[in-house]
Amino acid sequence: MNKPTLLLLLCLSLTAAFPKSRRLNEHAKRKLEESTVDISGTWKPIRIKFEYVTDADLQTKEFLNQIFSICGTFLSKHLLIRRSSDKIQLTQDAPAQFKEFFEMSTDMLSVQHDADLVFFVNTMNDSNDSTLAFCAPVIFDDKTKRPIFGAIGWNMAYSQVSTLTNAGFEAQLATAVHEIIHGLGFVEDLFNQFYDSATGEVYPDGGMIEEDDVVKIITPRVLAFARKHFACDDISGVPMEQEGGDGTAGSHWERTLFYNEMMTGNDMVSDFVLTDFTFQLLQDTGYYRLADYKPDILTWGEGEGCNFYDSMCESDFSEFCSDEGSVGCAITHNGIGVCSSDDLSNSCKYYQIDPNLDCRNANSAGYSDNAATFQDFGYHSMCVIGGFSASSGTPQKFSCYKYSCDGTFTITVNGKSIDCSNGGEKTLEGLSGSITCPENYKQFCENADECPNQCNKRGFCMKGQCTCYGNYYGSGCEQENCTKVRKGTECVDSCPTGYYLNEVVNYCIGCPGYCASCSSYNACTQCQDGYELREGFCDLLSSSSYSSHLEILILLSIVLFS
Ligand SMILES: *[C@@H]1O[C@H](CO)[C@@H](O)[C@H](O)[C@H]1NC(C)=O
Ligand SMILES: *[C@@H]1O[C@H](CO)[C@@H](O)[C@H](O)[C@H]1NC(C)=O
Ligand SMILES: *[C@@H]1O[C@H](CO)[C@@H](O)[C@H](O)[C@H]1NC(C)=O
Repeated sequence: MNKPTLLLLLCLSLTAAFPKSRRLNEHAKRKLEESTVDISGTWKPIRIKFEYVTDADLQTKEFLNQIFSICGTFLSKHLLIRRSSDKIQLTQDAPAQFKEFFEMSTDMLSVQHDADLVFFVNTMNDSNDSTLAFCAPVIFDDKTKRPIFGAIGWNMAYSQVSTLTNAGFEAQLATAVHEIIHGLGFVEDLFNQFYDSATGEVYPDGGMIEEDDVVKIITPRVLAFARKHFACDDISGVPMEQEGGDGTAGSHWERTLFYNEMMTGNDMVSDFVLTDFTFQLLQDTGYYRLADYKPDILTWGEGEGCNFYDSMCESDFSEFCSDEGSVGCAITHNGIGVCSSDDLSNSCKYYQIDPNLDCRNANSAGYSDNAATFQDFGYHSMCVIGGFSASSGTPQKFSCYKYSCDGTFTITVNGKSIDCSNGGEKTLEGLSGSITCPENYKQFCENADECPNQCNKRGFCMKGQCTCYGNYYGSGCEQENCTKVRKGTECVDSCPTGYYLNEVVNYCIGCPGYCASCSSYNACTQCQDGYELREGFCDLLSSSSYSSHLEILILLSIVLFS
């Protein structure tokens, strides 16, 4: 096993103040660079284990156990690794490597862990420190270079455990998933160590470049996906955050281009999305491949073209606002916000959701006249321009109302449905005020990613689907005690044809990501359109090669029919 003395700490920070972090030392870097990768293993679901080394009280430990169990279940369901050995064990010099995080007793060295990755979780309780949590990969596997031991620090000062609402719990979970993804290898110092899992070779031009102090990812899947997402074939490197200082800059997606992606660099009031930017980067590490998954979609910048990518708020895109302090619906429609910039947004302004006006949070305080203006907060609610009131109130300029994307697009106010499928301004009989139907409702509905009651503190929500921990199941993990196997939201006797049991989490899963037919969860035989089959998995064709295929087809058909 490789033995770097210490890696950098990757933090999700609350506000502007960022803690110092260390970089991978030169010795560790060289060791990683010199070792060759063994690509002989088959892909199996990752088993992640959390060891609590904190002396915190029982309630705190139970809370941590709950969030990390959910994270572990979610990642085991989706991520596959090449397993070098069934058990992993720390080496004699581990106490020195973990010294900065906690005092490791020598007893811990004799433990054999039934896991592929173990995180030691410690806590702090410091409201003067803006760090919510940090995570670092510490020890790496000799054969695959993959992290196998890591450290997590959690600041309890920002986890009001006894009063957490479902939305509050979901925000804590997003922090936990964010940190663990750093622990999986999403760190600047490893980008140049990433390798092609099909060959074991590092990428010919490396994993990143640095241009004008901006770190840009140049690994193939991330590049291909960025070109597709932004609809810009000219993208030659995907920018990471350059603000926020050490520990934030370089190791997170740039806020101005990625807004609420879960791997952006600080916390925000919003529904974080876990998108293919992060999943493709995880696959580009060489350490991971993806089983069946449906990522969240980033609305921000979707299909906006090279101009968005190049000039961001200097051009007139609806993602940004210009009138500082003005009020409006957030681009994702999930809350009412104030136009302002944040510490990572390169001075670009957007509608930052007011914590009291987060439409998705059933416990939002809302306005003082919620009842008179029929505000409705919860996972099924969205921000709409305009509002209604009974005779006793004044309509709000922006409101949270219930919506449905089921067939038609409807907004529901005070029990009455308004068909908003064809846009326009709408009034309701007997009420004063009006609403303007959202223009881009199709994009909004296609990207809808909320889960019932945010999975009731029992699961992690991605693209509207809860992955539940323990034996929970159901669309919001509300059902208990599945003693058989789980498939989607159901508890079933056994996995049906076309599904394969992931024994680590007791879920039936289908073919790998973007695969059309397969013989197992790790063996695709045919990919969906636009994806290329490589070693049993599907990779996005880079848009330029995809469009040149199309050109060839078009040329051929012209020749054939002329
Ligand atoms: C953290 O510190 C605060 C204030 O000192 C205290 O009230 C709270 O109980 C502590 N939380 C934990 C989990 O120890
Ligand atoms: C936070 O800082 C204040 C002022 O410096 C100090 O009085 C307080 O004890 C600190 N709190 C913690 C938890 O360290
Ligand atoms: C699930 O199992 C637990 C423990 O055996 C039990 O207390 C609980 O009532 C069960 N719940 C349901 C819905 O069967």
